[in-house]
Amino acid sequence: MPEAIGGYFELELRSGQHPYPQAVAFNSARAAFRALVQARGLRRIYLPHYICAVLEHALQGLDIDVRRYALDAELGLAGLPDLAGDEGLLYVDYFGLKADYIRQVLAPHYGTQLIIDNSQALFSQPLPGIATLYSPRKFVGVADGGWLVNGPATLPAPPESASRERFAALLGRLEQAPEKHYGDYQENEAALAAQGVLAMSASTARVLDSIDYANVADRRRRNLMLLRERLDGRNRFTAWPADVPAALCYPLLLDSPAQATRLRQHLLQQAIFVPCYWRELIDNPTTPALERHLAECLLPLPMDQRYGDADMHRLADAVILNMRTP
Ligand SMILES: Cc1ncc(COP(=O)(O)O)c(C=O)c1O
Repeated sequence: MPEAIGGYFELELRSGQHPYPQAVAFNSARAAFRALVQARGLRRIYLPHYICAVLEHALQGLDIDVRRYALDAELGLAGLPDLAGDEGLLYVDYFGLKADYIRQVLAPHYGTQLIIDNSQALFSQPLPGIATLYSPRKFVGVADGGWLVNGPATLPAPPESASRERFAALLGRLEQAPEKHYGDYQENEAALAAQGVLAMSASTARVLDSIDYANVADRRRRNLMLLRERLDGRNRFTAWPADVPAALCYPLLLDSPAQATRLRQHLLQQAIFVPCYWRELIDNPTTPALERHLAECLLPLPMDQRYGDADMHRLADAVILNMRTP
């Protein structure tokens, strides 16, 4: 069939905004990771302890040995393991704040054996020749999708996927309170986990090609600056880069799990939703002390492009009030 001319309109979207047009597009970042590991034929992969469990799950059924490495207090590697030719090491640009460390330390040391997970760093550019993963829905309003930049030329084309059912959670949030559609969001995430390696759907690709990324990045930088001015004095997190990046969140590191739980509850009562990176680490007996502390005591405060100065002041006021109260 030739392409249609005329008929009713699809959802109206701009095009030409894709930040990484050279990327291969998948249904999720974990799918991109699995496809990369398979295409490279890696026999061993080093993953940080401090990472979402889905990355290791994505490797299920592959003949690959997974080793874990520990971080230091600056979120760099505590030690740099030596890699054999058929091994790789994945590092996360944590919160979108570690691009300098990657460029200055890891990329020169590991070269193309390094895999960068920019799921938390949509605006960190890929380095030449270094395979880099992105998970855009952690930054913008899409239901799924992953990008792989600098993957092998031999990557097989993944089968097509569809996202139209998953748009209900996003459209629902436009019309009603987020609580009403949180169940849909969770179902979407569970369905994605069960999906395996597929291509990005045409609808997700079209929405991602329509977004004003410069505006998203500017707003995130501004919000990060504002929260830094208000909250750095109370924050144990100190691994800030020299410049202000368009980060994922403002990482607020507290002293104790009790303090973190109390603040999280207080924010929830004010309809301020703070995720946990990553709850599954807390119950895992092999989690090192630093990573456990991060999972228990670090609150990634939301500061995305939906919010302006007044929202950030409201958030900072709520944090400060709670921290002052004995
Ligand atoms: C650091 C990190 N990398 C990768 C992923 C997986 O991304 P996706 O859900 O797009 O597969 C996650 C969590 O979901 C993550 O936190």
